[in-house]
Amino acid sequence: MKLSEAKKRIEELRKEINEHNRRYYVLNDPIISDFEYDLLMNELETLEKMFPELITEDSPTRRVGSDLTKEFVQYRHKYPMLSLSNTYSAEEVMDFHNRVIKVAGKDVEYVCELKFDGASISLTYVKGKLERALTRGDGYSGDDVTQNVLTIKSIPHELPAGDYPEEFIIRGEILMSRPVFNELNKERAAEGLPLFANPRNAASGTLKLLDPKIVASRKLECFLYYLLGENLPCDNHYGNMLKAREWGFRISEHMRLCKSIDEVMEYINHWDEARRDLIFDTDGIVIKVNSLALQEELGSTAKSPRWAIAYKYKAEQVATRLLSVDFQVGRTGTVTPVANLQPIHLGGTIVKRASLHNADQIELLDLHYNDTVFVEKGGEIIPKIVGVDTSKREPGSKKVEFIKTCPECGTPLIRIENEANHFCPNYLHCPPQIKGRIEHFISRKAMNIEGLGEETIDLLFNEGLVRNIADLYELKKEQLIPLERMGEKSAANIIASIEKSKNTPYHRVLFALGIRHVGETIAKTLAAEFPDIDTLISADIEKLTSVREIGPKIAASIVNYFEDKDNREIIARLKSYGINFRSEKETPEEISGKLAGKTIVISGVFSRHSREEYKEMIEKHGGKNSSSISSSTSFVLAGENMGPSKREKAESLGIPIISEDEFLKMLE
Ligand code: IVH
Repeated sequence: MKLSEAKKRIEELRKEINEHNRRYYVLNDPIISDFEYDLLMNELETLEKMFPELITEDSPTRRVGSDLTKEFVQYRHKYPMLSLSNTYSAEEVMDFHNRVIKVAGKDVEYVCELKFDGASISLTYVKGKLERALTRGDGYSGDDVTQNVLTIKSIPHELPAGDYPEEFIIRGEILMSRPVFNELNKERAAEGLPLFANPRNAASGTLKLLDPKIVASRKLECFLYYLLGENLPCDNHYGNMLKAREWGFRISEHMRLCKSIDEVMEYINHWDEARRDLIFDTDGIVIKVNSLALQEELGSTAKSPRWAIAYKYKAEQVATRLLSVDFQVGRTGTVTPVANLQPIHLGGTIVKRASLHNADQIELLDLHYNDTVFVEKGGEIIPKIVGVDTSKREPGSKKVEFIKTCPECGTPLIRIENEANHFCPNYLHCPPQIKGRIEHFISRKAMNIEGLGEETIDLLFNEGLVRNIADLYELKKEQLIPLERMGEKSAANIIASIEKSKNTPYHRVLFALGIRHVGETIAKTLAAEFPDIDTLISADIEKLTSVREIGPKIAASIVNYFEDKDNREIIARLKSYGINFRSEKETPEEISGKLAGKTIVISGVFSRHSREEYKEMIEKHGGKNSSSISSSTSFVLAGENMGPSKREKAESLGIPIISEDEFLKMLE
């Protein structure tokens, strides 16, 4: 290769890698697999080795990708936060080992750990208190995400007394477990929000949210794997990790001390399979030299330490043929392309379909019908197409084009600027959108109407019995009975459940309407700010955006929804059937005044009703809930295991303690 050719290719690679870094670290929306990324990086490294005169300090081979954003305050890392060098081959692990023993002059101990796939975090503790949490940033400075990190249960705010240094830094990975990730994406799908591609993106996206309350609801977790500071308790990594565990940090139970490189290889082989049973994604193994003195001797390059290496597992990939592409229309009208494939075995299951995400992805792959495609199962449940074997492309094969009109109703599709998805704007009359909206309306977290599944909604829609959510309230038992697989009893249950749903709290009704971008949390905020639906309908963009958490996008979506004549008609009908469109706080639905003027503290575990139900009962009977006991407490409603300090306080103030049964008797 000539110098000029190398220069050109190096520039191309740097540009491409920098863009992938931005997508990965800042947007949390990567479009290539780690393996493909590592291939690009490898090529750049090789070229830079061949032409050292072309190396520049800002080359991505010398710097870690940056996650810095303008939303957070930045602080410098006391010790730079480096990356790890990667390998996909056992031979290269052996090369690493040989380099290490050459410096050590003898055999060495290693610590093997799982390579967690999340977002790295650096925590500074001073006098046992968490002082600051920084993201990796560009390796030298990180974003201050302390407020978000404080919501993560596995990160201690304050350590109990222990033999830790006055000041130390502990680093680790913030993760989202697969079950939490699946649940989150399910909720996002129901709210019409874009889905996270995998738990890593969800974890790092969540860490950068501006509202710690939402962060708290996302149930992030954290494993720590690196202790830094001046007066560390041990002269080896393993000992320091055991100490950190003693101090209260979560250290993975899968960390192993390996006495030889053979034990390291055994660890690698074991986790290749076993990692599938973990609830957290791991993309490899980290091998670290145990002795801190040897670590220091080996030193670091600008980008990564020479005393550690990551062995990465290659995501399982197979080649198969693309048969056709379906375009599916979701509840909010988003159109998702799905590839139909020649069925093939992959990771223990037969794969017939793969996600294609959106038009950009199809374009990027330059996909043609009948192409031989590479399918990969990463952290995601749905496999994805990661590449095309263009050498096998049949001449004259047709390019896959994104459709222009809705496959369900024929309406021309729309793509909003800067958004990846196309969607069908025929909100009111596009069948999957109508059915999806009804399904959302009746779902557990919305109106919780039982007995109506997807199939029954399909039947009701096809029979013309239900065309919108308001029609549900006009259904008669006699109309349901003749439907397939419907008996008299199930029909009666459905009607009863529809009737019961009229008492659903206002914020859940707002969520149930299925307004784009109005999820459970936003619905609660709206219900608190706009005590009834009419105030909300008359709110303009300015009024809406003055509410915390509501930005211009959500505000526009709400205004759009209520501007629609048909939507307003549906709401008027729902109102006429007695659906609850008012905040309960404003007009507490009082059953009696039996507890009027009483301030009640609830404590302990109950068997006949839940705590929440008791709280509600107190309010409905005119009483007030309070969380702490004082002289103004009227009585304590106590279940099993009432806290001893609460009991003591109540007794010292002479406040009566009442059991569940006694309380229920009071209200009879
Ligand atoms: S040690 C200087 N240990 O992998 C070495 N890193 O690709 C510091 N990671 O930035 C890192 N699991 O975010 C270490 N057990 C583990 C890890 C781990 C995941 C991440 C970490 C790091 C990245 C490097």
